Amino acid sequence: MRALRVLLAVLLAGWALLSLYVVHWFRVRHGRGGPFPVGEAWTLVHPLRRWWHPVRPTLERFRLKPGDTVLELGPGPGYFAVEAGRMVGPEGRVLCLDIQPPMVAALRQRLEEQHVANAHPMVGDAVNLPLPDSSLDAAFLVAVLGEIPDRPRAVAELRRVLKPGSVLSFMETLTDPDYIFQDSLRDLCRASGFEILDQGGQLLGYTMCFTAP
Ligand SMILES: C[S@@+](CC[C@H](N)C(=O)[O-])C[C@H]1O[C@@H](n2cnc3c(N)ncnc32)[C@H](O)[C@@H]1O
Repeated sequence: MRALRVLLAVLLAGWALLSLYVVHWFRVRHGRGGPFPVGEAWTLVHPLRRWWHPVRPTLERFRLKPGDTVLELGPGPGYFAVEAGRMVGPEGRVLCLDIQPPMVAALRQRLEEQHVANAHPMVGDAVNLPLPDSSLDAAFLVAVLGEIPDRPRAVAELRRVLKPGSVLSFMETLTDPDYIFQDSLRDLCRASGFEILDQGGQLLGYTMCFTAP
């Protein structure tokens, strides 16, 4: 029994050390500020990522429903966009807006390979969304907000394009050098009139969902 406890403690310590190393490696490699480097986009769609960022459960937390019109802001090469397209189904659509044209090109290719026709890659900036007022049923951002210099303006834009009562969701991950702390995110969204719906822990991060005013 004692040997089992020791083994468990060693395994836990090993896991903690490995996690710390991964966080450190990402921070050293990517540095802070600016959009995620396109040359590293492969890390965002690596199959191992599913171990700590399971796609479907995350999107279920974000409350994507069949028929919804959804914005994924900062989709990168499309780790979440493919499944998001499948979840909203043929009656719904996912608008995937990213500031970097090569990232959008990589996303377009991935969507084609996965035969997802209802997710639409677009080049654009979070602070000036090319979308009409109150046109979205949901929006989500994973590891994006910290890369946007004018965050209050981006959140105000999200408020403009979301229908009242719709859901705005975030996931922040500790491996991200531009990680946003929970209190900062809560205050930022509340300042634009969003009300917190729920929040949950993730391995090395958290999700937080809000209702639009
Ligand atoms: C760390 S990556 C995350 C990609 C994706 N959400 C994921 O989890 O795999 C951040 C993405 O946000 C995009 N981005 C950064 N600033 C942006 C802005 N102002 N407007 C739109 N997209 C932006 C970057 O180009 C990059 O693709």
